[in-house]
Amino acid sequence: MQNNSENISNIKDKSPDESSADVIVRMFPSDANPAGNVFGGEILKHIDMVAGIVAQRHSQSNAVTVSMDSVNFIKPVFVGNVLKLNARINYVHNSSMEIEVRAEAEDILTGVKTITGTAFVTFVALDKNGKPGYAPKLLLKTDADKIKFTEGKVRMEDRLKHRKKPNI
Ligand SMILES: CC(C)(COP(=O)(O)OP(=O)(O)OC[C@H]1O[C@@H](n2cnc3c(N)ncnc32)[C@H](O)[C@@H]1OP(=O)(O)O)[C@@H](O)C(=O)NCCC(=O)NCCS
Repeated sequence: MQNNSENISNIKDKSPDESSADVIVRMFPSDANPAGNVFGGEILKHIDMVAGIVAQRHSQSNAVTVSMDSVNFIKPVFVGNVLKLNARINYVHNSSMEIEVRAEAEDILTGVKTITGTAFVTFVALDKNGKPGYAPKLLLKTDADKIKFTEGKVRMEDRLKHRKKPNI
């Protein structure tokens, strides 16, 4: 799909490494659900935030979340844990960018680290008029970058098949 909006121009193409981000947060009692473990929505907030850092670093523009999918809460996160989120960009089309997020919880007393969650977040880069623009291309430097790009393209095509339009 071609995009007629203004280019977010003069922004250099980047490798996934150049925009990847890590965010570390301590989980407090105020982050808990009624059962006493960390509320999933609290973790989603951090997933969205770290993915947004990557999208804005890559595009050097305002960028908004349009979709979050394949969210898996694999293990519980406990109050007192240190939650570390790592995000990297896998795929770019015109304005859209797929960001992969992995969440790891650390029991700070034992040092045990557990992968607790994964997700894909799609952001759209906006031009200065608030319309979808063009995000810079991804420089695929490693075999892993190329594989993740190809897999991201397949996922993006699949997600667009299920996209909800505003009139639905
Ligand atoms: C982002 C927004 C301006 C896009 O407007 P739009 O009319 O859908 O624009 P388009 O149809 O031209 O799509 C723009 C891009 O978004 C992608 N896109 C839109 N919805 C998508 C979805 N659900 N999943 C994946 N990609 C999506 C399109 O594929 C297109 O990508 P491309 O430019 O790389 O080809 C509009 O959807 C919006 O404002 N959404 C709310 C965003 C927001 O506020 N998020 C914060 C949480 S509320």
